[in-house]
Amino acid sequence: MGAPMAQKLAEKGYEVTAYNRTPEKLKPLEDAGINTTTDPTVALKASECIILMLSDISAIRGVLLDTETMKQLMVGKTFIQMGTIAPQESKALGDAMIEAAAQYLEAPVLGSIPQVKSGTLQIMVGSTPEQYDKWVGVLKNFGENPLHTGAVGTAAAMKLAMNQLIGSLTSAFASSLGMIEREGVDIEQFMAVLRDSALYAPTFDKKLERMRDRDFSNPNFPSKHLLKDVNLFIKEAESLGLDLNLVQGVKAVVEKTLTLGLADQDYSALFCAVAGTESTGGE
Ligand SMILES: NC(=O)c1ccc[n+]([C@@H]2O[C@H](COP(=O)([O-])OP(=O)(O)OC[C@H]3O[C@@H](n4cnc5c(N)ncnc54)[C@H](OP(=O)(O)O)[C@@H]3O)[C@@H](O)[C@H]2O)c1
Repeated sequence: MGAPMAQKLAEKGYEVTAYNRTPEKLKPLEDAGINTTTDPTVALKASECIILMLSDISAIRGVLLDTETMKQLMVGKTFIQMGTIAPQESKALGDAMIEAAAQYLEAPVLGSIPQVKSGTLQIMVGSTPEQYDKWVGVLKNFGENPLHTGAVGTAAAMKLAMNQLIGSLTSAFASSLGMIEREGVDIEQFMAVLRDSALYAPTFDKKLERMRDRDFSNPNFPSKHLLKDVNLFIKEAESLGLDLNLVQGVKAVVEKTLTLGLADQDYSALFCAVAGTESTGGE
């Protein structure tokens, strides 16, 4: 996600310095004339505002907070954290930023690489109203209507709640589609009934072809990230005293997907964990 985001900002005329620890990943950006670096201190020195699109909290902490040099460079900078992390993690990160005399906003997103390219991400922003007003213009390059959800932690919670639905809706659809396939029922008829019912969700059609063809290549959102988010949801929901039976089931399905070697494939690969890696019927 970070690469198309950097590209988008550069296209809009911002001076961008893109950081990644892996040089090969920077090559396409370099070819597009964007400043790149494998040294986070260079990226930090270059800009007033730093957009974070790293895997998880340990990656963020590892890049930013593990050395004194980095902490000193953070003074006076604004960090907009756009990856998916837990509300408690985001609040603790915000506190660490304040301690380092930096500003912190969380702005997790719904949508993926195609939505970055078309500028149609759904962006949820946890920050003070003043921070939102100051930086909403930058965020609008990625999505038209960034929503201010309240203080730090609120946007992270909303994002986790949405990603729980990705896991549970996809698992639920995979179970029904698996039954249809094994019973040899006409899949198009099944989809027609589903589309006309109140049970339909657009994600079902988006993932149908991948599931039928067992083709999970070129993922926008890989299975391993879904497992990360389900785990984050469980940890947070546990602390809130929510019943976890459903989500534990989803977690088991996504874990099985990873044991099938599908960690880096599209998350709809969880269909293989539910219904096997080979199609058994259903025209
Ligand atoms: N993809 C989506 O559709 C989507 C949508 C919404 C939210 N998100 C969230 O956005 C975040 C990024 O997702 P993504 O799909 O862009 O993931 P990704 O392609 O795996 O990118 C993650 C980035 O983090 C870097 N990284 C990981 N560990 C690191 C470490 N210890 N030190 C330095 N760099 C490290 C990776 O570097 P390397 O390239 O060297 O591995 C890579 O640049 C995740 O939190 C994800 O859940 C993703």
